[in-house]
Amino acid sequence: MELANLKSKSRIILALDHLGKLRDENILRKVIANVAGVKIGLPLVLSEGLSYVVNLLSNKDVYVLADFKLADIPDIMIRVSERIAGFVDGVIAHAFVGCEAISKLREFLKSHGVELFLVVAMTHRGAEEFINRHTEEFIEIARDYADGVVAPATFPDKISLARRILGDKVIVSPGIGAQGAEVGSAIRMGADFEIIGRLITMSEDPLAMVSEINRIHRKILASSTNSHRCSENMR
Ligand code: XMP
Repeated sequence: MELANLKSKSRIILALDHLGKLRDENILRKVIANVAGVKIGLPLVLSEGLSYVVNLLSNKDVYVLADFKLADIPDIMIRVSERIAGFVDGVIAHAFVGCEAISKLREFLKSHGVELFLVVAMTHRGAEEFINRHTEEFIEIARDYADGVVAPATFPDKISLARRILGDKVIVSPGIGAQGAEVGSAIRMGADFEIIGRLITMSEDPLAMVSEINRIHRKILASSTNSHRCSENMR
């Protein structure tokens, strides 16, 4: 499964760090039917166990993105990937480990049909201290060795920079809701998907929340298509 092909389904990647109301399989199934992908995080795997998470998502038609914060020597990143390659569609790794390590990871993942997304900037304020100073170089690594990037909705200029350098490659963007950025703000800046966790998982009605977010995304995408058509007609 390729994430780029799921844009017509939804622009939401559900960050599943804890289950909340989604522990109810009925609710989880309905939510999953209305999002493009599910990002599984370490808090979920450490509290529920890997087999529980694998069972939970097996036979569900959804893109599974593993966010285990890969940032290590190639051998270790590949060992971790070997454990999960059978049930995930994509993996997130940190670009700061450098081209050589990333290219080895990419080679392994490609041979297993798994996509690679690189973190090129982070969402929290402290990210400006170190990691976000190198965003442009990280995006260039992603352009050459990855399927896309993770870029922060809380620093929207990083999203537009990534879009300029990456062309059509996929941009996924966390930072929506609990971390302060507005729903749809990353899509407006050129991201393809918004990674959204607590806004959905801690909602009283996760399914209604997902429907509302999808509605906002569709409205933004429709208006950007219309304004693109207008500017073409005016030329
Ligand atoms: P919330 O609940 O804040 O969850 O919507 C956000 C999810 O996104 C992850 N996250 C990041 N992942 N770079 C990343 O690769 C980031 O800068 C970043 N900020 C948040 C977080 O782990 C959670 O799963």
